[in-house]
Formats: sequence, C-alpha cells, structure tokens
Amino acid sequence: MPLTYSTYLRLPDLLELQRPRSTPAEHDEMLFIVIHQVYELWFKLVLHETDKVNRDLSANDLYGAIATWKRLRTILKTLVGQLDILETMTPLSFASFRERLDTASGFQSFQFREVEFAYGYKRAGVTTSIPEHEGHREAAEARLGSRSVMDHFCDFLARRGVKVPAELLARDVREPTSPNEALQDELLRVYHEQPELVILFELMTDFDEGFQEWRYRHIKLVERTIGAKRGTGGSPGVEFLKQSLWKPLFPDLWAIRHRM
Ligand code: HEM
Repeated sequence: MPLTYSTYLRLPDLLELQRPRSTPAEHDEMLFIVIHQVYELWFKLVLHETDKVNRDLSANDLYGAIATWKRLRTILKTLVGQLDILETMTPLSFASFRERLDTASGFQSFQFREVEFAYGYKRAGVTTSIPEHEGHREAAEARLGSRSVMDHFCDFLARRGVKVPAELLARDVREPTSPNEALQDELLRVYHEQPELVILFELMTDFDEGFQEWRYRHIKLVERTIGAKRGTGGSPGVEFLKQSLWKPLFPDLWAIRHRM
C-alpha cells in the first residue's frame, strides 16, 4: 500500500486522542483539550530545536545557531498568539467542565519543566509535581542534570575569544542561571567589537522576551478565567504563577543595556 498523508501523519491515532469528559458534552471542552495538546506538540518541537541550538553553539556554528534561534523565536510567538483562542472561552463556560479536570493541571507538564530546565530556570523541587506513575519525571530530571543553553552559549563565547569566567565553566549544572558581572563586561565588549555576534545575542533576547510574554499572557488568561480561585494542580493559582514572572532566561544579555 502506498504511503498516504493520513498514514504518514498517523491521523487515525492523532484524531482519536481528543476525549472530552463532560456529560452532557460541554462545547468548549474540545477547544480546551485541543489547545493543550497543540501546546505539548510545540513544547516537543521547542525541545528538539533546543537540542540543535546547543549543538550549534558548542560547535561554534554561528549561522546554524542563528537559523535555529529564528525558528525558536517564531515558535514562541505562535505559542503566545494561540492564547487568544482560549480567551474566547468565558469563565462560565470553563466553570461548566472545570471539575472534570480533577487534579489535572499544566503544573504537571513534564515537557514544560524540561523547557524551563533546558533554559536554565532550574528548580529541583518542581519535579515532584510531575506524577511519578506516568514515568515522565525522569525526563525532567535528566534535563535538570544536563548542561543548559547558557552553558553551551559559554562554549561558543570561549571559542570566539571571550574570557568566560572560570566559575561559569566549572559550575554545578543543576543550579539555575545566575547573572555574572565579569561575563557582562565581556558581552558588552563583544557588542562593540564583533557585530556579527550581535545578531545572535538579539535573537536570544527575542526568545527570552517571548518566554516571559508567554508567562504574562498565561497569567492574564488564568486571571480572567478563574480569578482568585486555587489551581486544579493545588497551587494558590495566579499568585503562584506571578513568582516566575519577569525572570529572564539570559539575565546577562539584559543587564548590560543601560551601558550601551
Ligand atoms: C482556562 C485556561 C487555563 C487555566 C484556568 C489555567 C490555570 C492554571 C493554574 C491555576 C496554574 C497554577 C498551577 C495549579 O495550581 O494548577 C497553571 C499552571 C500552568 N499552566 Fe495553565 N491554565 C490554563 C491554560 C493553560 C494552557 C493553554 C497551557 C498550555 C500548555 C497551560 C500550561 C500551564 C503550565 C505549563 C503551568 C505551570 C506553570 C508554572 O509552574 O510556572 N495552561 N495553569
């Protein structure tokens, strides 16, 4: 049998995966399921592209890295834009099926934690929110113990003649990224002396800004949909989410701007 569109994409399997739980059916539950599944697919691609950008950076492949950052940045813009669709669901409509979610929550998304960890927002404690019996906690823990994008970026900078502080090269990879003043001095120098690298730095800043934008838009979505209610994942909801708002992934790229 020749390969077809449907068999290549495994469409019968894919289109079987949307199973609303409400009876009688609540119209908007289909939207809620589809959009979360789409997000998980985008997270899968973000991780795939992140692995590539890490290889590009460590191999000192500037053009490869630029191409991959452009793709990553565009995916993030799409991720943020898609929240508009879910905002067409009213609080009343969500309330009609919310209890069907039981304790299920984006809080348990192991791929989202993988993304956070890959980009250096490492918090060992959050892996406990990933249900152990589903076998996904290991994936997040593996990312927690792996070098983050910032570590690969340091490899790249070192290959380009930047004096990367020794403490960054020898750091414990399970720790979150923290700002480093000596690196900032070096980055500032590169901004003036190696304009070809500025494109890369600005693309990384775009990605960082996009990630912060997603957090902000998700909080606003949550606020307009459930207000001050607690999350289905058991957190205080909006107040919990605000704790990671405005935290940059690449703090050194933000810290030098007033010095330019
Ligand atoms: C009506 C729509 C939504 C509501 C009311 C909502 C609500 C919440 C709440 C209250 C939390 C805090 C954890 C908890 O206690 O449950 C949370 C976390 C989270 N949600 Fe949503 N959410 C919605 C849509 C989405 C969508 C579309 C995504 C896309 C994947 C998503 C992904 C996440 C993630 C990844 C977290 C963990 C964030 C973190 O720990 O910083 N949520 N959500």
